[in-house]
Amino acid sequence: IEKKEVKGLTAVYLEILKEDSRTRARLGKLHTPHGVMDTPVFMPVGTQATVKTMTPEEIKEIGAGIILSNTYHLFLRPGQELIREAGGLHRFMNWDGAILTDSGGFQVFSLGDLRTIKEEGVEFRSHIDGSRQFLSPEIATQVQMALGSDIVMAFDECAPYPCTHEYAKDSLERTTRWLKRCKETLTTTDTQALFGIVQGGMYEDLRRQSAAEITELDLPGYAVGGLSVGEPKEMMYQVLDYTVPLLPREKPRYLMGVGSPDALIEGVMRGIDMFDCVLPTRIARNGTAMTRYGKVIVRNAGSARDFGPIDPTCDCYTCRNYSRAYVRHLLKSDEILGLRLMTIHNLRYLQNLMREIREAIKEDRLPEYRQKCFTDYGYELD
Ligand code: GUN
Ligand code: ZN
Repeated sequence: IEKKEVKGLTAVYLEILKEDSRTRARLGKLHTPHGVMDTPVFMPVGTQATVKTMTPEEIKEIGAGIILSNTYHLFLRPGQELIREAGGLHRFMNWDGAILTDSGGFQVFSLGDLRTIKEEGVEFRSHIDGSRQFLSPEIATQVQMALGSDIVMAFDECAPYPCTHEYAKDSLERTTRWLKRCKETLTTTDTQALFGIVQGGMYEDLRRQSAAEITELDLPGYAVGGLSVGEPKEMMYQVLDYTVPLLPREKPRYLMGVGSPDALIEGVMRGIDMFDCVLPTRIARNGTAMTRYGKVIVRNAGSARDFGPIDPTCDCYTCRNYSRAYVRHLLKSDEILGLRLMTIHNLRYLQNLMREIREAIKEDRLPEYRQKCFTDYGYELD
């Protein structure tokens, strides 16, 4: 309570516990109206008000305190009125941890031909029934107010890769104008925090312009968007190298849509505090486990007679109780339990990775930890 008063009733704030001396990594605690999370943190994705196949109790047991959900999907179905009537998204889905909602910007822009961008907002056709729909900064913010998410993402445009300097510039300038409209719409800043999103494609001058424009609005947190959109990883790291230092030190920094183990470590080393990605849950359901020693395709014949756990070093419910052979059998037989056990494992793997990253920062050995992780995982080291 003391801290909140000091910070002037900000719904969400970052308490920085330590800054690494050899990298830009930070160790901290993210305070939200629905709990305090150790950072750097990975947020599992629950697009349609559910982390696919998981109950909230299971998400808790995995160690996650914050999840991401999507305005786009919930706007189309079941709609903001119904969730408001249910008492907000936390109550609707029985999740008492924190929720960050993406604005719909990214999903709408992924629709390609099915959408038209105007200054007012974006017209698009629903992927569910083809109906004509419209999202704007005001509507996306109002929907997120109805959802009651702890962190409200600005309605932005995520420019495609590659794109021209001219396109990226128009797009980032529109994103700034839209951000101002989001900020004016959000009237619940005591319980909900608006995060702005830096855009600007892969152009340094544009990232600088975008960061300068959005940090001027003095928001409770900032995201780096428009990355992990098909560019080479080295390019993403370069953009982070010059973009993250432009964001205020004391505010949380969120890298959107990143969740591969190598990119998580590289992002942390460049000063990122928060991440989300569908990768762990999506590849779990198609039979790929993430482990310390690289990806394991549990579906493959090689797992048929492997009666050991998916990952002998993993402490998840799946690895403590079931064999790789059994999980493979479930997947091959299209049994729902297979999807659940795989999801539990991959999410726990990432929670453990983030915990190890935090411990490494605490103990001043992050670069060494990175080296070991990459060697174990089988990545090329530079
Ligand atoms: N998810 C991944 N990248 C982005 C982005 O640039 N904007 C938004 N809103 N969501 C994202
Ligand atoms: Zn496991």
